[in-house]
Amino acid sequence: ITSNPVISTVVSSPSHLASLPHFDRPTYLMCPPQFYDVNYVINPWMAGNLHRPSRDAAFAQWNNLHQHLQRISDVRLLQARPNLPDMVFVAHSALVQHGVAAVSSFAHPQRQAEEQYLRRWFQTAGFLVWETPRETAFEGEGDALFNATGDHLWAAHGVRTCRQSHRHVADAWHTPVTSLHLVDPRFYHLDTCFAPLSGGHLLYFPAAFDGPSLAKIEAAYPVDKRIAVTETEATHFVCNLINTGKNIIMGTAGTDLATRLTKLGYEVAELDLSEFLRGGGSAKALALRLSDTTVTNALPIS
Ligand code: ARG
Repeated sequence: ITSNPVISTVVSSPSHLASLPHFDRPTYLMCPPQFYDVNYVINPWMAGNLHRPSRDAAFAQWNNLHQHLQRISDVRLLQARPNLPDMVFVAHSALVQHGVAAVSSFAHPQRQAEEQYLRRWFQTAGFLVWETPRETAFEGEGDALFNATGDHLWAAHGVRTCRQSHRHVADAWHTPVTSLHLVDPRFYHLDTCFAPLSGGHLLYFPAAFDGPSLAKIEAAYPVDKRIAVTETEATHFVCNLINTGKNIIMGTAGTDLATRLTKLGYEVAELDLSEFLRGGGSAKALALRLSDTTVTNALPIS
């Protein structure tokens, strides 16, 4: 059941399904920070940071993240383009599952020119591209995250992504979707304040959501699975983490959060990603998941 019968026919056609890319190992897409900078202000973190990132420091931090991620997954690279300083935050360009890529329609014109390069990359790599309408902004993994088992989509609205896009995006996989309302402009994307983890836990910053949204979150995650972070941790963008199997890569928390996560069975690497905080992003924003959620979340066999 879908609002888009034409594309749904394509998705459910066995010959197309067979030819869509599938990854047996956790796989991500990254885009190097050749042209990374803060050239405009489209989130509160960028204010006061205009042209402040050091490209050398950004490259060193990005390389470190790339190396860490390569130890636990395959990493594909997308070519950076001049005049697109936010292209390094590739996670917001699409949401991917089962070889289908729902490509973003960015809310701000400053990022819209990134879309064509992503669309082309996905087409060349054999993905089925699910278009999203310009009128209803959608910002990929920034605002849409699957639960650990990949059968439920959480999607946010209130700042960037339009609520009207949620059902359309979820229709790409015929998945149920729950809409959450973001109310704090500092946490302008869902992936800045909400991170479903492979062990069924949820790391989140409660004050970023309105009351009805919190009720939905608490109904889905029992209290022993919810890990609420403090405001200090949230503003260090700890929720913007990469989780592959039991591994977690996150920016420096400045607290004992890594120890708390280790006690729950995760292996945590804290990296300095301070140059990217100036642009409003951290680890997760710098890597787009290409492998299915179940493959990405599976614990290593040995
Ligand atoms: N400057 C980028 C933007 O505002 C940063 C994106 C980082 N997003 C995030 N969810 N961490 O679009």
